[in-house]
Amino acid sequence: MNKPKVIVTRQWPCEVEAQLKQLYDVQLNESDVPLSTDALKHALQTADAVLTTVTDIITADVLNAPNKRAKIIGQFGVGYNNIDIQAAKGQGLTVTNTPHVLTDCTADIAMLLLLMSARRASEGERLILNQQWTGWTPTQLLGQKVTGKTLGLIGFGRIAQAMAKKAHHGFDMKILFYVPSTPDQHIVDDLQATRCDSVEDLLAHSDFVSLHCPAGVTTKHLINEARLKLMRPTAHLINTARGDVVDSDALIHALKTGEIAGAGLDVYEGEPQLNPEFLTLNNIALLPHLGSATEETRTAMGNRVLVNIAAFFAGHEPNDKVV
Ligand code: DGY
Repeated sequence: MNKPKVIVTRQWPCEVEAQLKQLYDVQLNESDVPLSTDALKHALQTADAVLTTVTDIITADVLNAPNKRAKIIGQFGVGYNNIDIQAAKGQGLTVTNTPHVLTDCTADIAMLLLLMSARRASEGERLILNQQWTGWTPTQLLGQKVTGKTLGLIGFGRIAQAMAKKAHHGFDMKILFYVPSTPDQHIVDDLQATRCDSVEDLLAHSDFVSLHCPAGVTTKHLINEARLKLMRPTAHLINTARGDVVDSDALIHALKTGEIAGAGLDVYEGEPQLNPEFLTLNNIALLPHLGSATEETRTAMGNRVLVNIAAFFAGHEPNDKVV
């Protein structure tokens, strides 16, 4: 029997690519150059499965390409806001993602940004790299203490809960959260967490605010000018979710005018392009979307895609089916 044809849009960890070569008639992307819109359409027309990731913009136009052969899109990533899910559903395509395996590493990056922002780590490193450090002084680069402070989480899914665990049990932080759904009470109890009635309430009572909600129409610019004004002038905003959740112009204004003390960002509106004003600020820690970027996690994400497509080709419903 012929092996299913599989197209992978970006380079993947070599261990996973080796598996793909064994199992499928696979087209890898050794150059790692993102596929154009036409190439994505062609992939859907010529492969049984197209394995995408967060940088592939899979619009309705791409999904509506005529004479498609593909029946499944195996997304490498937990987020899938790059795919028009309604259009995929309309086309009868199955879409899967890779939850669970990146939870801890993404929570680690959120914690890293929180610590970097609180302790002015980027500013300090710049001082050394620019050879401007003239020695210790009692008042140099004073940041804010983290231990014992209040962390407010917007969204309370797996990654938020993992961050809360590290912050509460590791740094003795008090946990507030806002989420429209009802989380497991035993998780809330273990973290001694307090649910806020609104985003506004959470912003007003947190020393650190970390974003963990999915991107979408309801969360676009959830953090805007009015909401930033509710934060404490000593507070820090951490975003490892998606860039669109924060209005960049409003955040830049808040950081410039001291409405908030600092921010730590791993994701950006329109990334990899950044609003150039971010580069002019001192009170910000910037990372290039590294949330899940560990060898272990990226390999596990690839393996998760393999399990999903294997189930699909065997006629079963994949565990991580989104639609
Ligand atoms: C995801 O999986 O959605 C991440 O943003 C990729 O690191």
